Amino acid sequence: MNTSWYALCCLALLQAFIPGSSPLKSIPYYFQKNPFTCRQVSVFEIAQDLGAVISSNSAIFLPSHPPWSEVTKRWNTLIAPDIEIVVQPAEESDIPKVVQYCNDNGIEFLVVNRGHGLTAALNKFRGIQIDMKQLTAITIDSDGKSALFQGGVSVDEVVTALWDQGYVTTTGSSGSVGLTGLALGGGHGRYEGLYGLISDNVIHLNVVLADGSTVPVNETSYEDLFWAMKGAGHNFGIVTSLRLKIYPKQIATWHYHNYLWTQDKLEAVFEEMNRVQDHGNAPPLLGASFGHIRINRSVNEKEAILWWTSGYAGPASEVEHILRPFNAIEAISDEMGDVPYPEIHGPQDTATSSFPSGPYVMSTVMLQTYNITAQRQLYDLFNRNAALYPELGANALLMIEGYATAGVQAIDPISTAYPHRDEFHLAFFLAAAPEGSDLLEPARTWAKESWDIWNAGQPTRKPATYVNYGTGNEYESLESIYGYEPWRLERLRALKAKYDPYNRFRYYVPIIPY
Ligand SMILES: Cc1cc2nc3c(=O)[nH]c(=O)nc-3n(C[C@H](O)[C@H](O)[C@H](O)COP(=O)(O)OP(=O)(O)OC[C@H]3O[C@@H](n4cnc5c(N)ncnc54)[C@H](O)[C@@H]3O)c2cc1C
Ligand SMILES: *[C@@H]1O[C@H](CO)[C@@H](O)[C@H](O)[C@H]1NC(C)=O
Ligand SMILES: *[C@@H]1O[C@H](CO)[C@@H](O)[C@H](O)[C@H]1NC(C)=O
Ligand SMILES: *[C@@H]1O[C@H](CO)[C@@H](O)[C@H](O)[C@H]1NC(C)=O
Repeated sequence: MNTSWYALCCLALLQAFIPGSSPLKSIPYYFQKNPFTCRQVSVFEIAQDLGAVISSNSAIFLPSHPPWSEVTKRWNTLIAPDIEIVVQPAEESDIPKVVQYCNDNGIEFLVVNRGHGLTAALNKFRGIQIDMKQLTAITIDSDGKSALFQGGVSVDEVVTALWDQGYVTTTGSSGSVGLTGLALGGGHGRYEGLYGLISDNVIHLNVVLADGSTVPVNETSYEDLFWAMKGAGHNFGIVTSLRLKIYPKQIATWHYHNYLWTQDKLEAVFEEMNRVQDHGNAPPLLGASFGHIRINRSVNEKEAILWWTSGYAGPASEVEHILRPFNAIEAISDEMGDVPYPEIHGPQDTATSSFPSGPYVMSTVMLQTYNITAQRQLYDLFNRNAALYPELGANALLMIEGYATAGVQAIDPISTAYPHRDEFHLAFFLAAAPEGSDLLEPARTWAKESWDIWNAGQPTRKPATYVNYGTGNEYESLESIYGYEPWRLERLRALKAKYDPYNRFRYYVPIIPY
């Protein structure tokens, strides 16, 4: 069934039923310090009330509507906020109305865009999902230096729309994720070697605050909030649209070179990786090098193998000499090619289909260099557990990411809430363990042990967590996420008290957990 058609019909029906003043209006105002969902009011009544105040192309979904599973689906199915009703605004101006309605009626709200958020805090949510997926307009400014993106665009939409008009910008490297969620936590992707994080390119945000007011946020308007929203933004407001810097496309194609290696090459590969990445000094155009360790049954049923991809902004001739040492490590297979930038997702395995949704147990770290002893220990643990729990092993992986970081390091670390400019790698462990299965505990133990090994591999450094990869595991400290310098959390907490005194934005890596 056509989702939007169904939803529109539904809304029309609801509006037709509304007799002017809705039943909810008679319920006393009881916005609480610690709000709770208004149990006295049925979701049908809420839908009626909202249907009456928001724009007519908006959609409202109840659990009984067939598209329900589609609009509430999430990438990680172990993350399951209790969604009672979904509102899909058609206009940015609908969002403050929904927030106001929720505040007036003690109902919780949660912004959802492409559903890749991983943090366990989302499981504490119960209430209305404000679904951003209708707000996907992209408007390039006449000077060609920036563009306005509505809060519901995805990376794929951004990359394609800009490319078609002759531009690129910073995005995530996976096509399926939402731009805004990424930007609010930093946002790592292929162009950060040149231009920095997504958040470094944000020049303006239109934000709905917890009290339902709409405010312009930039370096001269709500400057304190602007600082916070570049790294810790999920805790502060709903972004209805944001303006990002864009850049004329100067590089026609990206070169990729992918390798599949057996485990005996692990040390050689990571040594070369360390050499090329050179402690944060990777060539800025060597945008995205990443890979994973996992079982590939067509190669070996018991021993995990290493897949690696290097992505370079430019032709083969500019980068193959840098990759020569990798080419010298005997591979099971390798392949290379040059493709227009929007097509790099396929060969680098970052297309939507590359990351199917599933019940994932995860842990995550940030690193400066690869500790080869630790990588070997992680590898051995992987094989041991894959043998003990074949079902887990078949759907587990260690992902290791190395972006070019020159553009990230060019920004003064104190100028934004993003605290990790001295971390050069992202890594995570993931294993699919069906909910309720007896694989959950072994998967959690495996995740924790992997985390321990990674961190033991950098004994002079403290654990660091990328907020957008935050899992909510109890061993992820707030300092590891938002920064160890005490002033960072102090400043964020003060801003929470100022802009979100009732902690309504507390479901995504909350600064003030509850
Ligand atoms: C398969 C996969 C690939 C990924 N690839 C990358 C990558 O390449 N680079 C990278 O840096 N990270 C990446 N991530 C992490 C990703 O950045 C975060 O999960 C991101 O927040 C997801 O946004 P979303 O819209 O898809 O998810 P959602 O779950 O819809 O959003 C995540 C959170 O962002 C907030 N949010 C979303 N939209 C808005 C809005 N308009 N206003 C205010 N708050 C909002 C909400 O708090 C929400 O809970 C990836 C994650 C996965 C699972
Ligand atoms: C910042 O916001 C103010 C108020 O809306 C606006 O006048 C100004 O142009 C904005 N600045 C930028 C750089 O967008
Ligand atoms: C598994 O290995 C084969 C080569 O034997 C390769 O073609 C395939 O892409 C590999 N699969 C993954 C998921 O890496
Ligand atoms: C690498 O990891 C091992 C194992 O945890 C550790 O003993 C060693 O000190 C680490 N090396 C460096 C240079 O940090």
